[in-house]
Amino acid sequence: MVPTAADCVVKTQDIIVRPETAGDVKAIDVVNLSAFEGEAEARLVETMRRLPGFAPELSLVAELNGRIVGHVLLTRVPLQQEGGRATRVLALGPMSVVPSQSHRGIGSALIRAAIDQARKLGFGAIVVAGHPEYYRRLGFEPAAGRALGSNLRVAEDALTVLELQAGTLHGGGRVVYPDPFARIF
Ligand SMILES: CC(C)(COP(=O)(O)OP(=O)(O)OC[C@H]1O[C@@H](n2cnc3c(N)ncnc32)[C@H](O)[C@@H]1OP(=O)(O)O)[C@@H](O)C(=O)NCCC(=O)NCCS
Repeated sequence: MVPTAADCVVKTQDIIVRPETAGDVKAIDVVNLSAFEGEAEARLVETMRRLPGFAPELSLVAELNGRIVGHVLLTRVPLQQEGGRATRVLALGPMSVVPSQSHRGIGSALIRAAIDQARKLGFGAIVVAGHPEYYRRLGFEPAAGRALGSNLRVAEDALTVLELQAGTLHGGGRVVYPDPFARIF
C-alpha cells in the first residue's frame, strides 16, 4: 500500500517534513532557485514532476512556520546488475534548503524523512550524486566501495549509497538515471 501524506510526516522541533501537494509547486521552485546557482535543478524538478512515474510521496518538503524552506526529490531508478537483473532503487536529489535557513538541521531532517519514506515504500537502497561528506554523516557510503557506478558524468566519489535491505547491492552494478538527470549531470 502506498503511504498517504499523513503516514510520512516527520517533525524535528518546529520543522515538518511531508510529501508535496499541488499547492507547494511554486514554493518548491522558489526554494530550488534560491539554493542552487542557476535554474538547472529547479527545471529538473519541474520536468520530473511532469513524467508519468512521478509520485508526490517521493517529493518531500520541509515546512517551517507554514513556509516551505526545503525540498528533496526521490526518483525510482533501475540498478542494473549482473545476469541482466534490474532492481528498482531510489535516487535522492536534487535537495535544497533556502540559504536563510541553512545549518539548522533542515537538510538532515529531509534526508531522514526520505530514508523513512524509502523504507515504507519497500525500496532496498538509496543512491545520491552529491557532496559525499554531507551524506556520509547520515549513513551513506561510497558507491565505489560497493562496485556501483552510474550513467552520470560526476566524479566517482560523488556517488554514495545507503542499503536499506541487506543484499540489494550485492555484486554492485550500474544505476541508470533518467535522461533529464543525465543531460545535466
Ligand atoms: C546542502 C544543503 C541541502 C544542506 O542543508 P542544511 O539544512 O544546511 O543542512 P544541515 O543543517 O542538516 O547540515 C549542515 C551541515 O552539513 C554539512 N554541509 C553543508 N553543506 C555541505 C556541503 N556542501 N558539503 C559538505 N558538507 C556540507 C556541514 O557539516 C554542516 O554543518 P554545520 O551546520 O555545522 O556547518 C543546503 O546547504 C543547500 O541547499 N545547499 C545548496 C544546494 C545543494 O548543494 N544541495 C545538495 C546537492 S548534493
